[in-house]
Amino acid sequence: MSNDTLDLDNIQGDILGGGLPKKTETFYFFEVTKVDRFRSQFSEFVPLVKTAAQVNGHREEIYAHKQQKKPGLVTFAAVNVAFSQSGLSKLGIQGDLKDKAFTAGQLKDAQSLGDPGSTTDGKYTPDWEAGFKKEIHGVFVIAGDCHGSVTKELHQIKHIFGVGTAHQSIHEVTHVRGDDRLGEGHKKEHFGWLDGISNPAIDGFDEAPFPGQDSIKPGFVLAKRDGDIRGQDRPDWAIDGSFLTFRYLFQRVPEFHSFLEENPIILPGLSRKEGSELLGARLVGRWKSGAPIDVTPLHDDKELGADPQRNNLFEFKGSIEANDQSRCPFAAHIRKTYPRADLEGPPKNFNIDKNRIVRRYSVSFALSVRVLY
Ligand code: HEM
Repeated sequence: MSNDTLDLDNIQGDILGGGLPKKTETFYFFEVTKVDRFRSQFSEFVPLVKTAAQVNGHREEIYAHKQQKKPGLVTFAAVNVAFSQSGLSKLGIQGDLKDKAFTAGQLKDAQSLGDPGSTTDGKYTPDWEAGFKKEIHGVFVIAGDCHGSVTKELHQIKHIFGVGTAHQSIHEVTHVRGDDRLGEGHKKEHFGWLDGISNPAIDGFDEAPFPGQDSIKPGFVLAKRDGDIRGQDRPDWAIDGSFLTFRYLFQRVPEFHSFLEENPIILPGLSRKEGSELLGARLVGRWKSGAPIDVTPLHDDKELGADPQRNNLFEFKGSIEANDQSRCPFAAHIRKTYPRADLEGPPKNFNIDKNRIVRRYSVSFALSVRVLY
């Protein structure tokens, strides 16, 4: 597969690095109602799509703004777009992307994903919000510095696709908005854990990964690039695209904390409160501060948690041979989702690398929207 330098003008901005900068984000899910009209309107829409190169430029602008201690935020809005298999089929786009889960769609996977639901006449229906069980052809991901910027961008997109007029080619199936959390909750998911600490660095893009931020070949994230094992079989038009998974997950915050309080890990020298915190840390694999329990198994270390030079510097090394879960359980969230050195395999942890994902989060007060590319 292609070993060329990455073509940042051909890659959507939310895929690499920190993704689209955002304080707020709206996901606008649509169905295509008029195919020919949509195809011609789409060419008007394409110049709006923010590329990785443009996002890099914008991040530099934000950096300069902060350095110069200018007030407020840099005004910004950006859109990226993704299609489902049924959307591609509806538009007559030929070619098999060679990904069974994508082709079948997430609704088909709901039961095996463990999403609650019910079975009638042998057919499983998850308790998803109604909109997500309808036909969805695509999603516009719109990020910005404030609601005003995002609303304006969405308005422009709707205008291009004639929404609300006789020239309409799409209609909204559903939409979801997520906002950055402010104050105490900033950068934390709703249970209170520091989040967004670990994402893979991409060879050829991330020039200075943090210690322990293991890097992967671009083809594990970008179609048809170096490392994409199915790249040769995918259609040419798929180059530099990625697979986006959207999961809409609600967190029961008080219930989770009551569970921790009621089930402290009892150990000599630990108070009941510390035992509860330890249970939470062993479920996640990190303390709330972000400190990895593989490094500090019994007590939180807030400085370590906040230090990007150290908070990814661990590998669960040695533990698997000894079946050793004393520092971090195999079932801890971060060990299941990225087992680091637990499984060796040529070349360089290939069996792990091929399953790595880039996480993109949008959180808001009552819900947590987690977008996984
Ligand atoms: C509401 C549900 C979820 C919560 C509260 C949650 C919370 C967390 C937290 C606190 C971390 C540690 C912070 C970090 O390393 O950046 C983390 C890491 C991670 N999560 Fe989740 N997560 C959720 C759902 C998911 C899902 C559905 C997936 C994918 C299937 C996932 C994949 C990951 C990955 C890959 C990591 C990084 C592991 C590493 O590189 O060490 N998470 N999550």
